[in-house]
Amino acid sequence: MNTVLFDSGVSDEARRQQLYEGQLFVYSATPASSGLVTLARQLIREAFGTLDPETAQYHMPVEQYAATLAELKPKFIHHPESKKFIQSLLKERGCDLERTYFDVPRLRTATSDDYLTTGIAYAFHPHRDTWYSAPQCQLNWWIPIYDIESGRSMALHPRYWAQPIRNSSHLYNYAEWNEKSRFNAAQHIKSDSRVQPRAEEPVELDPQIRVVSPVGGVLIFSGAQLHSTVPNMTGRARFSIDFRTVNFDDAVEMRGAPNIDSKCTGTTMNDYLRGTDLAHLPQELIARYDTPPVSR
Ligand SMILES: [Fe+2]
Repeated sequence: MNTVLFDSGVSDEARRQQLYEGQLFVYSATPASSGLVTLARQLIREAFGTLDPETAQYHMPVEQYAATLAELKPKFIHHPESKKFIQSLLKERGCDLERTYFDVPRLRTATSDDYLTTGIAYAFHPHRDTWYSAPQCQLNWWIPIYDIESGRSMALHPRYWAQPIRNSSHLYNYAEWNEKSRFNAAQHIKSDSRVQPRAEEPVELDPQIRVVSPVGGVLIFSGAQLHSTVPNMTGRARFSIDFRTVNFDDAVEMRGAPNIDSKCTGTTMNDYLRGTDLAHLPQELIARYDTPPVSR
């Protein structure tokens, strides 16, 4: 990992290959990414009413803030327009929609001053998505909704691209997580008791890379990158969109970033929807990735 490619003109295939080698791609805002941002802003505005969403945390009890997000986030995730914008965005980026699968976009919030860092606004500790049952070919797409600065962005930790970390991913199985933990995120306000895979040794967060792009800019990185939420002390909350993609051929051929330390079981493969008609991946392909939970 040594390069950030900005507004690169390479093909989707060449881009995927470089992403699997740890490189980062950043693109300027496009009509589709801006459309997705406009939709998110509209829903955020409706949720917070007259309050400025970036500072609303200073004007409401944390329970009310968590409840507001609990209503807002599913609205964005399941909004029919949000999938359409992603389809357009993938097309703009040269992806073959027949062979590109995506999951529904998430709306993330990183509040300031440790106001709410659990549950519905979880501040992610350093992790690889591949510790959370994502396939090695998963790519993450990340888009800021309002202007951000370094202090409220997300961080990548390049030191660990090729270096394994002792971690608890062996305890994680996606199906088990969905059953037990996922749907009560908003209840975790003061603390978060959900078991998540994490490093079991000290992690050197520096050097780190934080990509700060204008609103609607798109950062793409491998799900195997170690990344975390930057502890936000800026006095303004960060709102961002992210979603993930998987390429069909890479999934079939088991291509992707090398797996250096992930031991989780299960798979997120059932979450991805085909770019053309939102069909799921074939069941037999999902089954190849769906390793059974370790009995304990
Ligand atoms: Fe992540």
